[in-house]
Amino acid sequence: MTMKESLERLAALEREAAKGGGEARLRAQHARGKLSARERLDLLLDADSFVELDRFVTHRSTDFGLAERKVLGDGVITGYGTIRGRLVYVFSQDFTVFGGSLSEAHAEKIVKIQELALKNGAPIVGLNDSGGARIQEGVVSLGGYADIFLRNTLASGVIPQVSVILGPCAGGAVYSPAITDFVYMVRGTSFMFVTGPEVVRAVTHEDIDKEGLGGADVHAGTSGVAHFAHDSEAESLAAVRRLFRYIPQNNTKRPPPGPGSDPHDRRSHTLLDIVPENPNRPYDIVEIVREVVDDGEFHEVHADFARNLITGFAHLGGHSVGIVANQPAVLAGVLDIDSSDKGARFVRFCDAFNIPLVVFEDVPGFLPGVSQEHGGIIRHGAKLLYAFCEATVPKVTVITRKAYGGAYDVMNSKHVRGDINLAWPWAEIAVMGPKGAVEILFRKEIAASDDPAATTEARMAEYREKFAHPFVAAARGYVDDVIDPRDTRPRLINALDMLSRKRDTNPPKKHGNIPL
Ligand code: HXC
Repeated sequence: MTMKESLERLAALEREAAKGGGEARLRAQHARGKLSARERLDLLLDADSFVELDRFVTHRSTDFGLAERKVLGDGVITGYGTIRGRLVYVFSQDFTVFGGSLSEAHAEKIVKIQELALKNGAPIVGLNDSGGARIQEGVVSLGGYADIFLRNTLASGVIPQVSVILGPCAGGAVYSPAITDFVYMVRGTSFMFVTGPEVVRAVTHEDIDKEGLGGADVHAGTSGVAHFAHDSEAESLAAVRRLFRYIPQNNTKRPPPGPGSDPHDRRSHTLLDIVPENPNRPYDIVEIVREVVDDGEFHEVHADFARNLITGFAHLGGHSVGIVANQPAVLAGVLDIDSSDKGARFVRFCDAFNIPLVVFEDVPGFLPGVSQEHGGIIRHGAKLLYAFCEATVPKVTVITRKAYGGAYDVMNSKHVRGDINLAWPWAEIAVMGPKGAVEILFRKEIAASDDPAATTEARMAEYREKFAHPFVAAARGYVDDVIDPRDTRPRLINALDMLSRKRDTNPPKKHGNIPL
């Protein structure tokens, strides 16, 4: 073959590789409101930054007529590019080729990208649109999945891993995303389930459609499998790009700084008006978060799941930080099973990737009740406690109102290595709230009293005076300072600046045994 003929052959193969499963299937993909695998990469990556690898890989199976149906690329586009100028590895499954199903060769392409990402210390983003294990390939395909799961696990805590679900992801297709750090879903077109509606109907006789079983809102709001749900693929992919404003390349690098143009010494008078005078009235902690962080920009994670605890990223004095905040507007901000899981996973991500933690605390305690106890609130609550205990990144807490009971310990207290712990002057730090305490301590006295209500009220006033303020904790050094709320932003930035070279370690071990 001459050089000219070789070039012509390359051009012809390139054209074929770009076709995927063909025009008709591409039209069907668009008709479902879905983009093609390549269109998605165009939206995710910086313009013209994508470099494709393994365009000419094909499957090896010959069963069920597969020998005649080889498609260049084998249903997944892999390579690397940049997001906000930063190197990122990507794979994008092509549903037009055997439903994006995972063959041996398809798996090998993803594994190659995973290994490159790990060796080069750069994040990996997977765009998932797959019918799961390629049925015709049998156990070889299952092996391919396991190869991917192993690399997901080895890369966990070393490089950020992001999964975007853009179609039906069934069986093995859901477990790789589940191991990754952040899962994005699109309403109406993306689904995640171990077994689909037909199997569910046959086994449990429950009648449910795909959206109801494993749609975006189910996973972002109820199961907690997904961290973000959007109305369109374009919004989802734009949100992934936004995430990169806060996360580092790998566990040895610092996260990117924000612009830092919001004055570091900006005091906020608004902060005096958010917490109600009556300690039993709710308020929205996100208002406080937005008032304090740079330019009011808060990138909330898991916004629709376990809303009694808020998690998300922001910049504070230019520092990228992970915010964890009790939300008094939902369930009075109590900690329960789901919020403990949500918080623990977020804290561990931040700790693994050198992102300082800033905690806004207003917590009346753990949620009482049979369903919580039987559901294992002890085991789940312990995850959040464990996560804060083991975290060695800079850790700063502001108590905006209540810090009661075990939840006081859990929420990044001084005792679990909180570096700087501040309290607003009306903070209540005690074993429990005045009413509960008085009803236990003075039960007999109240029962014997001519006026039980007046006795209770008098004892509660006494309790409040003695315990329901931050100065007992401050006298012990359990809070480092009681501050004017208006100074919260400057004080937090000052603490983060001071802690920016912090070094702390845990005892050498293979790994801990977090109560899963
Ligand atoms: C091979 C597959 C496939 C698969 C779909 N296709 N899934 N080919 N292996 N797993 C092919 C179809 O034959 C079809 O090919 C094309 O992809 C599009 O599929 P449709 O069914 O026409 O599309 P749609 O109606 O949108 O339904 C999509 C779907 C459905 C929900 C994904 O195809 C489906 O249920 N597939 C099987 C899902 C599944 O059970 N997978 C195995 C899971 S077990 P043509 O040629 O007609 O275009 C597993 C084990 C791993 O993954 C365990 C690890 C822990």
